Amino acid sequence: MSFSPDWLALREPADLAARNRDLLAHAIAVAGEDAVVLDLGSGTGSTARAFQGGACSSWTWRFVDGDPDLLDIAHSRHPQSECVVMNLRDIDDLPLAGVSLVTASALLDLMPQTWMTHLAQRLGQAGIPFYAALNYDGVMQWSPAGAGDDAITASFNRHQQTDKGIGPAMGARSGALAQHILSHNGFDVTLSQSPWQLGADQAELHRQLIAGIGDAARETGNTDAAHWAQARIADVAHAKAMIGHTDLLAVPHGSPA
Ligand SMILES: C[S@@+](CC[C@H](N)C(=O)[O-])C[C@H]1O[C@@H](n2cnc3c(N)ncnc32)[C@H](O)[C@@H]1O
Repeated sequence: MSFSPDWLALREPADLAARNRDLLAHAIAVAGEDAVVLDLGSGTGSTARAFQGGACSSWTWRFVDGDPDLLDIAHSRHPQSECVVMNLRDIDDLPLAGVSLVTASALLDLMPQTWMTHLAQRLGQAGIPFYAALNYDGVMQWSPAGAGDDAITASFNRHQQTDKGIGPAMGARSGALAQHILSHNGFDVTLSQSPWQLGADQAELHRQLIAGIGDAARETGNTDAAHWAQARIADVAHAKAMIGHTDLLAVPHGSPA
């Protein structure tokens, strides 16, 4: 799968508004000052921008992504960062030396359960905390609601579990599965809500999101998807959407913060 920089830029303000503030603050306290932070699936570096300021000003970011063009943008926006082009499938090759916190955002739902298990084992052995934000949780609600919304959500959620590059994805179960897996690998895990709340000020994001949901639902065989997307896009100026996400923080048992 590839992600355009334009799409990542469009979603970044909604992501920033949605991130759970308490969990973000807890992650900052856990990592402390002068932290080296490894960000998985960095894209253009939105996670680093969500953390910037205060105690995080002294952090060093190590960005990891399979897309060199996105990493070029990340590096141009964060010139002090280290960038590593690699496939996240290769967990044993992750550059964890000296790392105090591993982060990710909008990533876990794309990844397989076996990958999550392997990552949890590796981080558990190394005693490194893990912050993973904006994991889609399968809940989408529109206001006003439409007759086809639930069926489209069900189709979209099925599509979310298809292979996104390295095996069947966890999709909407990623937050709960990651919580379970990390809990069994020596971590205290907190899972918090971080929904997108889209209104008239996010009309373009809302439009592109609906188009993407419609395409995914159609690919699963939902024959109403094109009509649903067309009607929803026509109504964006008058509609609100809630797209459910969770943020997760996993701290090794016995860590001070
Ligand atoms: C939805 S984007 C999120 C980007 C960024 N974290 C953000 O929140 O804007 C997912 C990112 O993960 C990367 N990615 C997905 N699967 C990958 C894999 N198997 N190996 C390396 N990078 C991967 C993509 O290139 C993309 O940059």
